Formats: sequence, structure tokens, C-alpha cells
Amino acid sequence: MPEASSRFGPREPAGSGGRALAGQKVVITAGPTREAIDPVRFISNRSSGRMGYALAEAACEAGAEVVLISGPTALPAPKGVTRIDVETALQMRAAVLEQMPCDLFIATAAVADYRAAEPAPGKIKKSADELELRLVKNPDILSEVASRDPHTEGRPFTVGFAAETDHVLEHARDKLVRKRLDMIAANRVGEGLAFDQPDNALTVLWPGGQAELPQADKRLLARQLIELIAQRIDQRA
Ligand code: PMT
Repeated sequence: MPEASSRFGPREPAGSGGRALAGQKVVITAGPTREAIDPVRFISNRSSGRMGYALAEAACEAGAEVVLISGPTALPAPKGVTRIDVETALQMRAAVLEQMPCDLFIATAAVADYRAAEPAPGKIKKSADELELRLVKNPDILSEVASRDPHTEGRPFTVGFAAETDHVLEHARDKLVRKRLDMIAANRVGEGLAFDQPDNALTVLWPGGQAELPQADKRLLARQLIELIAQRIDQRA
């Protein structure tokens, strides 16, 4: 049974007045990663980066020092945010680890779960009717950050996202526990939902509680999520 449950309506966001994350270092991943098949082709996904960039902006408004580690997107960096551009999951992992320790880590990026085992050094020519591509698993950046030792390595308050087409809450809860997260924001994805859209809807879960952030523009949702995160950090302290 959740210890707390809240429902946010449209209201004044914390980021506009309060400085809920003043003095905190926040690291956010955003956008897709691209995994090369050959020099001209890659595996990627539909993430536009909007959700992550909106969170970076909201965290900055809340007084944080924000580092945004971004896969390829068409978006400008929000004012006051330090953006580090990466392309692959391995580059994103290295950039994230370089920014540790930090106070808060939010993994919004749609990181490719797999990459080509051996990207071809030259353009693959069209010849055979079938072509096999061997994939290997990418490291899970979020799990790695969440597994840091709080005493010797500095473990941030760690927030993940769960992008699911079905059984959204079930999968999100599983990720919250399995990846040892402090909080997870679940969104339903699929045809016309969440990916590359101006708005989104989130169910936010944490050990013992949950909150609904109903469909809204991603910038408003981001402010609400940052406020919720700041409250959870305060409660834990
Ligand atoms: O960018 P937009 O167009 O605005 O779309 C926003 C979004 C749909 C991409 C975003 O809201 C979202 O759901 N991001 C997470 C997408 C995702 O990859 O979810 P997942 O359920 O596959 O991964 C779970 C979590 O592990 C995520 O926090 C992800 O960043 C992280 N992860 C996953 C794999 C990996 N190798 N490393 C990771 O850190």
C-alpha cells in the first residue's frame, strides 16, 4: 500500500518561485543514442530529447548546476545549462561517469539497449538477399549510477524513466526495484505517444508511494517532476 499518493493539477510550479535545488549538481541524460552499423548507417530511436531538455531547464530554474548529456537532437541547450554532446551509449556512459559524483541523476535518454558487435569499417554493399547483424548489449548507465557506493563513491538521488507500450506500471515497478532507483517516471509510448511529442503524461513511482502527473506540455511536466523529486530528497534527508 503506498504511503503517499498525490495528483498534480495545473498550478504554480516550484521552479518559478522557490529554488528547490539550490546548490545541487544535477546530471541529466537526454535524447537517443546512435549505434553505428557502418560509416553511414546506424540504429537509433524516436527520442527528440524534449523531455530531458525540459527537465534540464526546470532543474536550472530550481537553482541547480545542471549538466545535460545529450544524444543527437535538434534542440538548443537551455540557458544556463552545460551540454555535453555524445552519440553512442558507450560515449554517454563515459560522459556520465566523468560527472560523478553529483547530487541528482535523471536518466531521460532513450539509450540503445544493443549496439552492432562489429560495425563495418566501410559502407556495407547491397548484394545478398539477407543480411545478418549481430548485436551486443550496451551497459546500463542508470543501473551503474544507482549501484554506486554512497559512502566511498558518492551515490546521487537516482531517477529513471520507463518507456513502455504495455503493462506500464508493472514494468516500471520492476525497473524501480531491479535497478535500485529512488524514483521512476513511467510513460506509455507507442504510436503518437511520448516520443517526439510536445506533451506527455507520467506516473511517478518511488518505494512506498506514487503520483500522477496528467497529460501536459513537457515543460510543465518537467517542473512538476523536479518539484516532486525535491520533496522526496527533503523527506529522505
Ligand atoms: O525525447 P522525447 O521525444 O521527449 O521522449 C521522451 C522519452 C519517451 C524518451 C522519455 O520520456 C523516456 O521515457 N525516456 C526513457 C526511455 C527508455 O529508454 O526507457 P527504458 O525503459 O528502455 O529504460 C529504462 C531507464 O534506463 C531509462 O531511464 C533509460 O535512460 C535507462 N537506460 C536504459 C538503457 C541503458 N543502456 N542505459 C540506461 O541508462
